[in-house]
Amino acid sequence: MILALDLPDRESALEMLGKLRGSLEWVKIGLQMYLRYGRDFVNEVAAMGFKIFLDLKLHDIPNTVGSAVKSLEGLPISMLTIHTCGGREMMGYAVKAARETNPELLVLGVTVLTSFNEEGLAETGVALPPAKQVELLAKLAVDSGLKGLVCSPLEIEPLRKILPADIALVTPGIRPAGSSADEQKRIMTPKMAAEAGSSYIVVGRPILKAADPAQAARDIMGELQNA
Ligand code: C5P
Repeated sequence: MILALDLPDRESALEMLGKLRGSLEWVKIGLQMYLRYGRDFVNEVAAMGFKIFLDLKLHDIPNTVGSAVKSLEGLPISMLTIHTCGGREMMGYAVKAARETNPELLVLGVTVLTSFNEEGLAETGVALPPAKQVELLAKLAVDSGLKGLVCSPLEIEPLRKILPADIALVTPGIRPAGSSADEQKRIMTPKMAAEAGSSYIVVGRPILKAADPAQAARDIMGELQNA
């Protein structure tokens, strides 16, 4: 389980992580926190003993993305996201840069953002339905050397059918039974996602907004262990 650390500022984030020490291993830091607090914040969270998923969703020309990944050298991160629609060469540069600077880093590909529907995708010139575009980009990502993807829980089953078994699938859009869906629409419970073949689930508000976040985290871990 990976906590999506979507909180407004450094102080509330560190307070939350203090409560979750011992109940949680992984933390996802996104653009909001990274652009405000930068490398120092990543180092601070890592020093508390958490593994870091840096969710920057890089997308640019191959040389720039490769150089950007190299710029992360020395940062204690274990996962990093890039956009697969940047294409084969861009993904290849990212993988090569990661291999050279942080061999343990799992570079994850984002396929079609779940905020897109068919109409929105068509407006950008993509004629395929979103599910087909996800499959196309997922295969291209694996072909380009990526070992993991971020996907919606509903995409796990179709992707598991077409991808090698060692590809990690990281899935947000998770809601424990009985908790609020917030604005998420295509959700699964932790148990359902694990049973469908998710490698890591990403959970934000069900933990962040819980009266007892550490207990909420332990409950979800328990559910995963029973899957
Ligand atoms: O609070 P919640 O559990 O909905 O948070 C989910 C996290 O996963 C957020 O950081 C959100 O940006 C991210 N995410 C998502 N759906 C995607 C990709 C990322 O919810 N398709």
